[in-house]
Amino acid sequence: MPDFFFDMYKTFIRPLFFLFSPERAHRLVSFFLRTGLRIPGIRPLVRRFYLVEDPRLEREVFGLRFPNPVGVAAGFDKEAALYNHLAHFGFGHVEIGTVTPLGQPGNPRPRLFRLPKDRALVNRMGFNNQGVEAFVSNLRANQPSLIVGGNIGKNTQTPHQESTGDYCRCFQALFDHVDYFVVNVSCPNIEGLSRLQDKDELVGLLQAIQKINHSHIKPRPVLLKISPDLTHKQLDEVLEVVETTGLSGIIATNTSSLRDGLQSPDEQVKKVGKGGLSGAPLKRKSTETIAYLSKKSGGKLPIIASGGIMGADDALEKLSAGASLVQLYTGFIYEGPSLVKRINKSILKALS
Ligand code: FNR
Repeated sequence: MPDFFFDMYKTFIRPLFFLFSPERAHRLVSFFLRTGLRIPGIRPLVRRFYLVEDPRLEREVFGLRFPNPVGVAAGFDKEAALYNHLAHFGFGHVEIGTVTPLGQPGNPRPRLFRLPKDRALVNRMGFNNQGVEAFVSNLRANQPSLIVGGNIGKNTQTPHQESTGDYCRCFQALFDHVDYFVVNVSCPNIEGLSRLQDKDELVGLLQAIQKINHSHIKPRPVLLKISPDLTHKQLDEVLEVVETTGLSGIIATNTSSLRDGLQSPDEQVKKVGKGGLSGAPLKRKSTETIAYLSKKSGGKLPIIASGGIMGADDALEKLSAGASLVQLYTGFIYEGPSLVKRINKSILKALS
């Protein structure tokens, strides 16, 4: 039975979704998740097929107990509306956002593109979301049934020098509703955001967040999401920042601004234009970043891997490079929900 279902996504469902623009296909997926899972009897069926429950998959990372190491990367549940639905497909955690203080429409469309030859996506969404208050309402109305991370950012209109205020507002508003936080300074689609990756700016920003965090009785783990395009020198600085500001870990990595080694025709890549590249072409750079950080930190720094996990072997590679958990986005689109199960099964197989 399993192989039949694995193949069904690629043979029937994916070609159907790929008839639509990527953003419309995403809306359709959201719609089907929300309505489909309401049909009586569907949830237990989906859970029976996709869930892999085994105590050997459990991971204790930065003080949280994850039922398995596979999660959904930020940007998939941009409105904090799908996390509980995604739990039925076997994910152990979902990272919601990036959320900004005020709702904003993001960049003009089209802003999400497929490069099927490369099993990749390019996006310049620009933090489209309904704002942190809408997130809080959704989280209040739907108690999460799995670990939820809050990925926070700044509004596009907010001047650079006021960025810290935006991150702090999101942090404060979400504090009681998420299990961990991710400070996103590595999205290539927000003008000037990468300036926040400069060491001094970053220390200032993270110290402000940690000050709020430590005013609470039970502070939350705070992680930093970094770009795959950083040099070794910049990664060394990231490690210094982690140390100085007492971060709980790193998410490596976000999407890339570079277009190295793509198989897709040049004209197609040029036509797509600016944006963050994700999927298979990101895998090597992302894994190298993890391996570098893990080695330099003596394997002590919790790292969540994100970038080019398109199959179970890719996930195993990230874990052996030093990651504690893995996250999927583009692989979930190209391979379908069975990828989660395949990864969890492979982890168990590798243990036996
Ligand atoms: C993303 N990603 C992302 N990351 C983030 O921190 N905040 C965000 O809002 C988004 N939004 C977003 C939208 C779309 C359409 C994509 C494809 C990606 C990046 C994502 O979380 C992940 O880090 C990268 O996509 C790399 O992983 P994959 O896609 O190669 O598995």
